[in-house]
Amino acid sequence: MANERTLSIIKPDAVAKNVIGEIYSRFEKADLKIVASKMMHLTQEQAEGFYAEHKERPFFNDLVAFMTSGPVVVQALEGEGAILKNRELMGATNPKEAEAGTIRADFASSIDANAVHGSDSAASAEREIAYFFNDNEICPRG
Ligand code: PPS
Repeated sequence: MANERTLSIIKPDAVAKNVIGEIYSRFEKADLKIVASKMMHLTQEQAEGFYAEHKERPFFNDLVAFMTSGPVVVQALEGEGAILKNRELMGATNPKEAEAGTIRADFASSIDANAVHGSDSAASAEREIAYFFNDNEICPRG
C-alpha cells in the first residue's frame, strides 16, 4: 500500500473533552506519524472555505457554527494507506453508527459534534493539507 498523507482535525467537542492525547495515541498505535500539527480557533471564513463543497447542504450553517465554536487541533498524518486507515480509526460520521472502539464511538456525542474530521480521498487530502499548512510546517518525508 502507498505511503500517503491525510488531513485530520480534532473538533471543538473533543478538544473540550480533553482527549487530544488519547486521539493522538490512536494515530501512533496505528503507525500513523503526526508530521504537522497546530491548535487554532477557526474563523468563520476559514471554516466556510474548508467546507465549501458542502455549501448547499442543509447542515452547512450548523457545521460552520460548530467548527468555529472553540479551538480545534489540525494535523497531517503520514503512513501506509493513511487516508483509509484514518477513516477506519474515526468510524462512521454518525457516532450511533460507528463501530465499537472507533474514535467517534468512544468520544463523539452526535452527528454534529462528531469529534474528528479526516480527508476522504487523495485529492481532498492534498487540498486540505495545503489549506492549513505551508510546506515548511510539515516534516520532510522520511
Ligand atoms: S463525510 O464524513 O464527508 O463522509 O460525511 P458527510 O455526510 O458527507 O458529511 C460532511 C460533513 O458534514 C458533517 N455533517 C453534519 N454536520 C452537522 N449536522 C449534520 N446533520 C451533519 N451531517 C454531516 C459531517 O460531520 C462531515 O464533517 P467532516 O468534518 O467532513 O467529518
